[in-house]
Amino acid sequence: NVPSLRERNIALIGFMGVGKTTIGELVSKKLYRDFIDVDKAIEKKYGMKVPEIFQEKGEAEFRKIEKDTSIELCKNERLKILSLGGGAYTQTEIREACMKYCIVISLDLTWDSWKDRLNLIIDNRPVLQNKSMEEIEDLFQKRQGVYDLNNFQVKTDSMDENEVADEIVSLLK
Ligand code: S3P
Repeated sequence: NVPSLRERNIALIGFMGVGKTTIGELVSKKLYRDFIDVDKAIEKKYGMKVPEIFQEKGEAEFRKIEKDTSIELCKNERLKILSLGGGAYTQTEIREACMKYCIVISLDLTWDSWKDRLNLIIDNRPVLQNKSMEEIEDLFQKRQGVYDLNNFQVKTDSMDENEVADEIVSLLK
């Protein structure tokens, strides 16, 4: 029951704040396909915001929920644009489901460009709280190695969101 390339979802991955949601919405409009933000799907299912889930249930429980929801969407949806949480792809089983059922595209930014966005995104990102800049850079670089596994990479440093979305659409042609 593995979908053909034409039927597959497109899964957008990448670090927090690289623009997965905004770009995913733009791609979904350009391709006339539905967009699903996995974190929003989790929030709807549990009636709680992601930071509340971290706070009340803990990160380990969030990761379990994230695993189940991400795999379910990758597997059961077709032709959707999915935006995954920034940590999702570090889970082996999510990665395997992505590779099997989706076309995976990572949105890459250099650390130099990303670090200026920190203040804009830190508030509702529990994994960035109480960390030094060095620790955040460490996480950023470590995650980059995972995002690079088996997918299309789009380097977004010198493009605006609309240009990135156009680049993704042209990758699919
Ligand atoms: C996380 C990224 C977040 C969200 C959660 C954990 C991470 O999603 O899933 O706060 O570990 O990188 P975004 O990448 O959409 O911010």
